[in-house]
This record gives sequence, structure tokens and C-alpha cells, in this order.
Amino acid sequence: MLRRLHLEQPESFAFTPANQKWAEAQISKYPEGRQASAIIPLLWRAQEQEGWLTRPAIEHVAGMLDMAYIRALEVATFYFMFQLQPVGSVAHIQVCGTTSCMICGAEDLIGVCKEKIAANPHELSADGKFSWEEVECLGACANAPMAQIGKDYYEDLTAARMGEIIDELAAGKVPVPGPQNGRFTSEPAGGLTSLQQFDKDRSTGNASVHLATSIGDTVKRIDGTEVPLLTPWLNKSGAAKKAAAAPKPKAEAKAPPKKAPAAKTAEAPAAAEEKPATLDAPRDGKADDLKMIKGVGPGLEKKLNDLGIWHYDQVAALTSEQIAWVDTQLKFRGRIERDDWVAQAKVLAEGGTTEFSKRAKY
Ligand code: FES
Repeated sequence: MLRRLHLEQPESFAFTPANQKWAEAQISKYPEGRQASAIIPLLWRAQEQEGWLTRPAIEHVAGMLDMAYIRALEVATFYFMFQLQPVGSVAHIQVCGTTSCMICGAEDLIGVCKEKIAANPHELSADGKFSWEEVECLGACANAPMAQIGKDYYEDLTAARMGEIIDELAAGKVPVPGPQNGRFTSEPAGGLTSLQQFDKDRSTGNASVHLATSIGDTVKRIDGTEVPLLTPWLNKSGAAKKAAAAPKPKAEAKAPPKKAPAAKTAEAPAAAEEKPATLDAPRDGKADDLKMIKGVGPGLEKKLNDLGIWHYDQVAALTSEQIAWVDTQLKFRGRIERDDWVAQAKVLAEGGTTEFSKRAKY
């Protein structure tokens, strides 16, 4: 299947503060120089936060890990668990269509999705709340047919139950995950024939059920505040290493991967910030077209204008401390340095053109 980035992308991405801390903690699990190993958990957390994986999110994670963007893109496009286009705001339903499930009624489940959500996979429902797709075997064949909804499996499904589950989700409820026919796991439909002493545990559910019923974890957008951040590996070493807190300036995607960043200590001070001189309005009422700077779209141009930055020479004069301040205001740290706005703006301020501005004019 062709997996490409969606044509329409948001302008920026940032982890919530709690997710940022969580991400830094994940990076600290890996030895010096191996921080890129955290790519999958970080991309996954970005998807858990936003619902799907946007290009700015992939770039943001690549920046945090000091990886070439193309390498992060390779990971995001390889694994089907990453959704590269918008999904339903409430839930994305993945119906298994492989042999066991197909024999046991997967087509009926897909029929319900087509009827209640949208005619085609990956198409949003009219209210934008749901989307669906058919996926390959999800490894729950003994409980066929089944579907993954958000993080959880709903097994032993019927078409009628599938319809009810969608209705419950639409009403803001989170149906209890697991087998939907009264089975506890994948024991014989006629009841346990061995290990019967474990029967008493059945009323308590399991961790997935607990999270689904307590915080709606199945389809919840994760902002990082759901569970305490645990980092026992840091305490053990006694040296609380803290990984890069923000995306590092990056070269073009074609550039070879840089050496991984040195971990900072937890006490490392944040980069100093200083507000640059700004203007209340453009000089002579005529602002420069900041969109001629690669990395500045209409949204960012407006934000820059709102900050009082209207002209190329203002961008060209930014110092490191002032870049840090603007970065914070734009809520996308590292963006200015990544695309080297200052160097671009210097050329434009002197009346020159850049490779990007030449293309952007047409
Ligand atoms: S065939 Fe559906 S989970 Fe394996």
C-alpha cells in the first residue's frame, strides 16, 4: 500500500508539557549516541496526542533525536500503526479482514463501518467523529472476528454489537474492551476445562479494562497527565540524565544523520531568552512578505506580525537569545534555526533572492 504524507498539514507541532517530559524520559533510557532508538515511542506518543501523525510532528521528533528528517519519515511511513492522515476525532476503527476473522464475519463488520461511518476506508464520517480501515491479522484469531479501536481490541464481535459500539463511542462512552460474547479471554466458548482455579479472577477484568473504564484510555487523546511519569532507571544510576529538551537545528533532509546529542544534566539551565525590538506596525505601512522565507507559511507570518516582526531585516538581526524568545512565542522550538531564517532574511533584506524565494514567487 502506498503510504504518503497527507496533502494538508498543520503548521506546527509541539508536545504538551507533560508529554514533552515523558518524551525526554524515554530518550534517557538509551545510551549516549543511541537516542534515535526512541523514535517509535516518540512518534507513537505524538500520534496518541494528535490522533494522527503529522509532518510537523515527524519533524519535531526527528529534531529531538537529532535524526535526519528522512530517517524519521522512513519509520513513520513503514509501520502501518502510524496514521498518516486525519482520523475520526472520536475513534479510528481497524477491522481485521484476515482469514479467521473473514470466515467468522469480518465482512459484516466492514459493512457496518461502511453504513455507519463512510463508504471508503480512511474517509471521515460526515460528523468527522469516525474513520475505519481493514487491516491484516491483529493476532487475536481465537476471538475472531475482531477490531482494534484506539488502543484496545474488541473481540468476538457481531455486526449488531459493532453497531452498538460505534453508537456508544459517539455518545461519549467507552465500551468495555475484550471479548463481547461473555468470554473472559480466549478460553473455550463452553467454559474452562483446565486452570479452573483462575476462574475467580475473572470478575476483576484486566489492566486494559481498568484503563478503559477509568480514564477512557481506549480512545483518549493522551496529554501525558494520565499516569505519573515513572523513571526508575534514572534513580538507579543516580545521574539523572536529561535528553534534549527541544528539537535541534537540523540540516536539510538529504544531509547525513548527525552525531546524537550529548545528554544534558537535569540541572542544565534553559537557553536564555531576550525579546527583540519589535514594531507596532510595518514601516511606511508596507510589510515584507515573510512567506518568502522558507519555513514561514501564512499562519507563521501572521504570528510574527502579531509579535511585531514585519520585515526581513528584523529577522536577519535576531540573536540566539532573541531566536529563543521568538521560538517560544511560536511554540515550535528549533524551527528558526532549522530553516536558517536569519541567513535567508539577510539575503532578502539586501534585495537578493534565495532558492526558495525564487520558487515561491511563482
Ligand atoms: S485473523 Fe483476525 S486477528 Fe487474526
